[in-house]
Amino acid sequence: MEKFDPENFVEGKTEELKRTIGDERALVAVSGGVDSTTCAVLTHRAVGDNLVCVILDDAFMREGEPQHVADTLSKPPLKVPMKIVDVREQFLGAMKGLRDAEEKRKRFRETFYQALSQTAKAEGCRILVQGTIRADIEETLGGVKTQHNVLEQMGINPVERFGFRVVEPLVPLYKEQVRLVARFLGVPREFSERQPFPGPGLSVRVVGEIRPDKLETVKKATAVVEHELLQHKPSQYFAVIIDNEEALRRSMVIHVQETVARVLNVPSRNVHVRIFRDRATGVKSGERRYGEIVGIKVQTMNEATHHADIQNLISLQKRIITENQMVARVFYAVRDTGEKKPYVIGIRAVQTRNFLTAQTSRIPWKTLNRTAEKVMEKCPNVSAVYYDVTPKPPATIEME
Ligand code: XMP
Repeated sequence: MEKFDPENFVEGKTEELKRTIGDERALVAVSGGVDSTTCAVLTHRAVGDNLVCVILDDAFMREGEPQHVADTLSKPPLKVPMKIVDVREQFLGAMKGLRDAEEKRKRFRETFYQALSQTAKAEGCRILVQGTIRADIEETLGGVKTQHNVLEQMGINPVERFGFRVVEPLVPLYKEQVRLVARFLGVPREFSERQPFPGPGLSVRVVGEIRPDKLETVKKATAVVEHELLQHKPSQYFAVIIDNEEALRRSMVIHVQETVARVLNVPSRNVHVRIFRDRATGVKSGERRYGEIVGIKVQTMNEATHHADIQNLISLQKRIITENQMVARVFYAVRDTGEKKPYVIGIRAVQTRNFLTAQTSRIPWKTLNRTAEKVMEKCPNVSAVYYDVTPKPPATIEME
């Protein structure tokens, strides 16, 4: 294959964008992720202020992110003007009451395009530019999951439905090539080198029902996890939130308890196992499926949480999932107060090259402990913090 040259790509695309957009007004929505940011900067280079750049504040971005992204991109060296459009109420209303991951994704996408359609009309834009990349299309066509920005491949006609035609300059590129283009265009490193952040934002990290206080809590926990784990450079790392509610699965609990005691060589009376009421996404034979989330806490003699070697925990999860095919996630307690508060937080950190498979990162216990302590300080409605020790497969990277 010919070596990818970002300069050639940028020059060619700039000319093409000038031709396809011409003197019309176009709209682009920027999330601060590498794809949409690169797409906006590239298109702005081609058509200047005919491009209207907006940040849809949909309530699912990270804490303080809309303002931060707007400030950074509007300033030199990029000087791409950004407007923040507040659509938080619209999104929170639309996502209310949904529990199923795929339904949430679909509703998010509908609401996103409705909001974009309203913004495009208000701004007099009949073109939407978006940063779809090759993997988004491949995953949607392959039935892995509905990427929220893929329309035509899903049989949706954007002109009829939303009143704009879609231009997608990054479609031929893989993620790494997008990063090369971003660097070439002078996009700040905090965007070009950033870990992936899914299009539907934190909605795919809230397991089960989305509620405003739950969303605020996962935002606070995300800020702590991103800050504390950065030093270990996992490929992707974040927080997820689940309701602190259990399912009644007596025989599964006993079975898992025995496995934990055997593999970690600890007395079974010190092992506490719970199966959460809500289930989460995993992958099996290339297909997404829902599975149980198992939470394990092992106490030491003096009532503290036992910090087993992460490698042993990885072997343990494998054993548990092989013996219990319904399980998709194994959570191991970093800190558990045992109190009945509304939520528990999971820390997820993985190493991966292509995001199709991923290994659990071996984060030192010192970091996990400090992270859990800070999460609990910032989130008084959280009763436990777990480390997700499940690789992909059988889990997905995100936890929906
Ligand atoms: P999963 O959870 O499927 O995630 O193992 C694999 C990678 O894809 C990212 N991801 C998304 N990226 N739009 C995106 O732009 C999405 O809808 C989306 N869903 C998952 C995820 O963060 C991980 O890097």
